[in-house]
Amino acid sequence: MSNFSSSGFPMHRGRRLRKSKNIRDLFAESNLTINDLVMPYFIRERDDEEKIISMPGIKRYTEEELLYELEEITKKNLNTISLFPKIKKEKKTTDGSESLNSNNLVCKTLRKIKKNFPEITVICDVALDAYTSSGHDGIINSDGIIDNDKTIKMLAQMAELFASNGCDIVAPSDMMDGRIKVIRKKLEESKNFNTCILSYSSKFASNFYSPFRDALGSQKNLNYSSKDTYQIDYRNKREAIKESLEDINEGADILMVKPAIYYLDILNELKKKSNVPVAAYQVSGEYSMIKLGAENGILKLKECVLESLLCIKRSGADIIFSYFSKDVINWLHE
Ligand code: PBG
Repeated sequence: MSNFSSSGFPMHRGRRLRKSKNIRDLFAESNLTINDLVMPYFIRERDDEEKIISMPGIKRYTEEELLYELEEITKKNLNTISLFPKIKKEKKTTDGSESLNSNNLVCKTLRKIKKNFPEITVICDVALDAYTSSGHDGIINSDGIIDNDKTIKMLAQMAELFASNGCDIVAPSDMMDGRIKVIRKKLEESKNFNTCILSYSSKFASNFYSPFRDALGSQKNLNYSSKDTYQIDYRNKREAIKESLEDINEGADILMVKPAIYYLDILNELKKKSNVPVAAYQVSGEYSMIKLGAENGILKLKECVLESLLCIKRSGADIIFSYFSKDVINWLHE
């Protein structure tokens, strides 16, 4: 390290800067504020199941419950949410056509939220997995392969639909090639000039999404088939950076690395190599590990959550999607 100069111990005593809580807080290099956080919400039809067994403390909300919940969190200044629908089994099809129904769960909920809480920033996942009977993020051809180009046409229409129903940020999470470009083109054509695209640009084929797939009801449909032909291989870093930088060229405003904790090297590198905001997603498996550890008396909840989130920030995240966001705002208000 060329700029390191020290005459060494005893002139140098690193512990001086760790002497008291106040001194440590004064010189903390990373901080976490309410503005860094996005709270994901699972939404459901009124007659569908509320409980998500693999994510203790997280549930699926009906429209009414969500509005009540938003009242609570906005009082504490948490103003950014993302929506994930649990579509009922009867509505799931091979091509996920429910995603383009202007009265689908997401569109209905969006309109209600925007009417009651216009100041809330709503992020919507753009992917077919919630809507397909296969549980995959794309349309499967007769040869069993996911048809990239057919799928991205639908994603573009879905993005336009969400934007015209009030969504502020569309977030394609599917990892099809070229989707950012067609979504941006569609948004421009439909005059949704101010809709941001948050690209899940470095999204890995991770095993830590399984509680989320339970929440969406897509786990059983997937029936152990993997998403390895479209999500990035977790052994690869260069590829992840390349994919992300490509998305800036295609028109993404914000990039994302997902999952978070096991992928901090990617996050750090992407932050250095790009000049757009970078988000990180602390995914369902990361949530449930800490939550269950704490419920079983093995981990301290607040301490472990704050450590995980601050380490994600330290690595370069501008914003973090976390199922703990709501807990964190309560702690920040303590
Ligand atoms: C949908 C999507 C997934 C997640 C966010 N959007 C699951 C997947 O790709 O299978 C995972 C989020 C989480 O685990 O919390 N494409």
